[in-house]
Amino acid sequence: MSSSSAFRTAIVPAAGLGTRFLPTTKSVPKELLPVVDRPAIELVAEEAALAGASKLVIVTSPDKASVGEHFQPAPDLESTLEKRGKTELLEKVRRAPGLLDVEVAIQEQALGLGHAVACAEPNLTGADEAVAVLLPDDLILPNGALDAMSAVRERFGGSVLLAIEVPREAVSAYGVFDVDDTDEPDVKRLKGMVEKPAVEDAPSNLIAPGRYLLDRAIFDALKRITPGAGGELQLTDAIALLIAEGHPVHVVVHRGERHDLGNPGGFLKAAVDFALKDPAYGPGLLQWLRGRVAAS
Ligand code: G1P
Repeated sequence: MSSSSAFRTAIVPAAGLGTRFLPTTKSVPKELLPVVDRPAIELVAEEAALAGASKLVIVTSPDKASVGEHFQPAPDLESTLEKRGKTELLEKVRRAPGLLDVEVAIQEQALGLGHAVACAEPNLTGADEAVAVLLPDDLILPNGALDAMSAVRERFGGSVLLAIEVPREAVSAYGVFDVDDTDEPDVKRLKGMVEKPAVEDAPSNLIAPGRYLLDRAIFDALKRITPGAGGELQLTDAIALLIAEGHPVHVVVHRGERHDLGNPGGFLKAAVDFALKDPAYGPGLLQWLRGRVAAS
């Protein structure tokens, strides 16, 4: 666990309808779909815990209680597994509840990502000078991005976001950064940020892949924004407001991998990537994939 973390609370917005995964998401929350054998939200919770978070606030909708339940102990199941001597399975079952303290905040209405983050404010204490926000649609590999962001907050203060480069024609799906260089090649100072711009209006091809280390000031900014892109209260707009008011905001450019779990195609790539690295499934999958690709 990181010792110099700039935050102790991580917020995971998980209230979406999961429309791109319908009909599965009629009854199963998207965040519980398995990447090999672990739900995506468990992977994100683990990333937060490894970066020093001791509390996770899951913001979800009233009908998605099972997302929070994944982090509760399961005494009956555990005692059955224990009696049967299934130690490895027992470890898997206990992993999520053992990662960090989980609290659930309810977002009654789907008013946007900014609104979802604001719903977590009552779960904070006076000790939370900054919070991490992790979007569970994004998997960032290898671990360590939040540590790099904490180090940048230590140096410059304010808020720090992760950035990745995407092809210019892909920017319209994201929050896009307007940056200035600093003396560190992969740390940029933000001059502005815009949510889902048209390609021709985008200030760069550096986008936000769902990892934010936000100064507590964000909650005040979130109260002052009005509906933006898609008619929703956007986190991007609250960050842009902070920048306009002189609050320091930097980005760390991520040079590793990122998986987009937000659509079935991206989810499949992540599952294959994780399965290939899995000692139990990797070798068999690779052999099958080689044959399958050769036959296509
Ligand atoms: C959200 C954010 C966007 C960010 C993206 C990353 O958009 O609003 O700024 O770049 O997540 O995945 P969404 O994908 O929810 O439309």
